[in-house]
Amino acid sequence: MIKSVLITGANGGLGKDTARQLALLDETERIYLGCRNEERAKAAKLSLEASTGKSIFEILLIDVSNLDSVRSAVNSLNEPIDALVMNAGGMGGKQFADKTVDGVIQICAINVLGHVVLAEELLKANKLTKVALYVGSEGARGVPAMFMKRPALKTSSVDEFASICDGSFFGEKIDGSAAYPHLKYVAALWMSSLARKYPEVRIVTMSPGSTSGTDAGKTLAPAMKFFFTVIGPKVLPLFGLMHKLELGAKRFVDGLNDESYKSGVFYGSEKSVLTGPLVDQATIFSDLNNVEYQDNANEAIHRFIN
Ligand SMILES: NC(=O)c1ccc[n+]([C@@H]2O[C@H](COP(=O)([O-])OP(=O)(O)OC[C@H]3O[C@@H](n4cnc5c(N)ncnc54)[C@H](OP(=O)(O)O)[C@@H]3O)[C@@H](O)[C@H]2O)c1
Repeated sequence: MIKSVLITGANGGLGKDTARQLALLDETERIYLGCRNEERAKAAKLSLEASTGKSIFEILLIDVSNLDSVRSAVNSLNEPIDALVMNAGGMGGKQFADKTVDGVIQICAINVLGHVVLAEELLKANKLTKVALYVGSEGARGVPAMFMKRPALKTSSVDEFASICDGSFFGEKIDGSAAYPHLKYVAALWMSSLARKYPEVRIVTMSPGSTSGTDAGKTLAPAMKFFFTVIGPKVLPLFGLMHKLELGAKRFVDGLNDESYKSGVFYGSEKSVLTGPLVDQATIFSDLNNVEYQDNANEAIHRFIN
């Protein structure tokens, strides 16, 4: 039974709806809204209290792109939490390709590095007791229906994974739509590696599927933004390529509560779609099961953590 949970990126989109759905479960006693902006966090807390009738939300300031902020958020937790939802992320805005002080590109910092430090520091401090859920993306195994190729690595060595994190893998001009699925792939491999180190905690990667009603499309180039926010929500559901916010967030709620979702596995939609039943993504892209690749991705990420 999950009584307490920390959700990163909880002030909007999937994170906020996950908080709403969890608050409606009788057993939930405390939900930490992990947000980087205090004003947006306060607004989300008020709106969640109004929509659920519950006063169980607490704001935890955390910017996952800043490792000092992540560590101080971990320190400020006085009691262990049962569950962690590593949801903050996305395309990283206009500065997605800028390097952070840790030497990774910004889109890596928000989708990967900050959550690695968050989960590992919580686990080391015995502050996370039951489930860690990382929000992945089917992009990590390729989505032919959306013309997204699966990540194609030459060696899957530590060096190659590190080059994805620092952006050199992508050449001079980094394409965010290529960097994003590669980074979600690196994170899914890291999660499987982590799951082998902490067998007492269920460590699951879960994609929400392609989900409308979030702010994810807002930072895209105008044509893409128009497609994903205006045309997409009308047309894509007909092909099983988009569903509503409640269904995307429900996947995380199920991932936390249903123990049939196994540790070390990356769950997402079936091969040709981005909605519907969940399947182990390694049945589509077997590289995800490669233990050497998992450990190489883990080692590569740790090159950027001091
Ligand atoms: N929507 C989809 O179809 C889809 C599909 C696959 C995977 N996902 C994944 O689902 C997750 C949630 O996305 P969404 O669609 O709900 O997008 P969203 O509405 O844009 O929400 C993203 C959340 O992440 C927060 N965030 C971003 N950078 C942060 C940082 N450095 N520190 C702390 N919080 C930060 C944002 O906070 P601010 O308001 O402060 O920016 C916001 O609360 C992401 O990891 C995304 O990659 C989404």
